[in-house]
Amino acid sequence: MLEKQTVKDVAVRNQNVLVRVDYNVPMKDGQITDDLRIRASLPTIEYLIKKGARRIILISHLGRPEGKRVPELSLRPVAKRLAELLPEAKVNFVDDVSGPDVEEAVQKTPVGGVLLLENLRFFPGEEKNSSEFAREIAECTGADLFVQDGFAVIHRAHASTEAITHELPSVAGFLVEKEVSALSKVATSPSHPFVIIIGGAKVADKQPLIDKLSPLADAIFVGGKIAADGYTSDNPKIHVCDSFVEDSEGGKRDIGEPCIESLLGLLDGAKMVLWNGTLGEAENPEFAKGSEKLAEYLGSHPEITTVICGGDTAGFAENYLKSHKGASFSLISTGGGASLELLSGLDLPGLDSLDAN
Ligand code: 3PG
Repeated sequence: MLEKQTVKDVAVRNQNVLVRVDYNVPMKDGQITDDLRIRASLPTIEYLIKKGARRIILISHLGRPEGKRVPELSLRPVAKRLAELLPEAKVNFVDDVSGPDVEEAVQKTPVGGVLLLENLRFFPGEEKNSSEFAREIAECTGADLFVQDGFAVIHRAHASTEAITHELPSVAGFLVEKEVSALSKVATSPSHPFVIIIGGAKVADKQPLIDKLSPLADAIFVGGKIAADGYTSDNPKIHVCDSFVEDSEGGKRDIGEPCIESLLGLLDGAKMVLWNGTLGEAENPEFAKGSEKLAEYLGSHPEITTVICGGDTAGFAENYLKSHKGASFSLISTGGGASLELLSGLDLPGLDSLDAN
């Protein structure tokens, strides 16, 4: 499915490997509140260490600092968490992305060690997709190879996702391979019956996905704020929720019991399910029942290939797994916008620019 070279197709022994990860993780008061994206980057890093890469230099963005240094958006806390997750490796951090400090930090990182550079978006060249900025990073890290493993950012044409691929041989990491393969299967040759569940708030983000995938789907269920706001469709495959749990002021905050029942009915016998968007205001336990019931059903039916995407939905599903041992989902995508754009058939510059196999 992935028509690109991966890290397994190239020699990495004794190479300095520059890896684009997506460590755009949620933070509160300097603490990481969800480390899914950091954990998801480990298979590629561990593989590179095992295969004798000389040094592994990680680059990422965090938040949207718009080309300026914003101390709260430093990646330093991420390096600390990464060091905890990689107890066997030396993990260093440097508060720049190019220049003498980076050159020195690379030299000081022991062979087989990991070095995380500072937030790429502190520098305007990143979002401008500047070739010069990409070249500086490649040169001062002494990189021999570029690995794209930041699945969540492959829909952006930035220096660390696009321009950099003109400087170095460029291949996909395991996270990109796993997510692109699973999501491409959903988008092109799903198993049937194939049910799509859409929730969340922004209809403009979801409509391209509905338009693209409705010919392939057997049924589409629409809940969440989109349904509460009155979404309509003439397509007989599309079932829009019409009963809601209301707050004291009549606000529609979660899908109602009759809709939960009809959703579970649609899922009976399903072989593949794509779930994007929570069905109510799931961050509030009072209005999480619809999403919980759905997670309970999908998490206890391993015969269904369940693909979950979207930032809030992924967070909800991760939390569900933490408190429900034994439940499992086939894929919780780390990509919010990236997964939606892939499923909607849009261009993905950070993927398209990798070396073909
Ligand atoms: C994400 O969280 O979706 C990615 O990290 C991309 O972030 P961006 O929308 O700020 O480019």
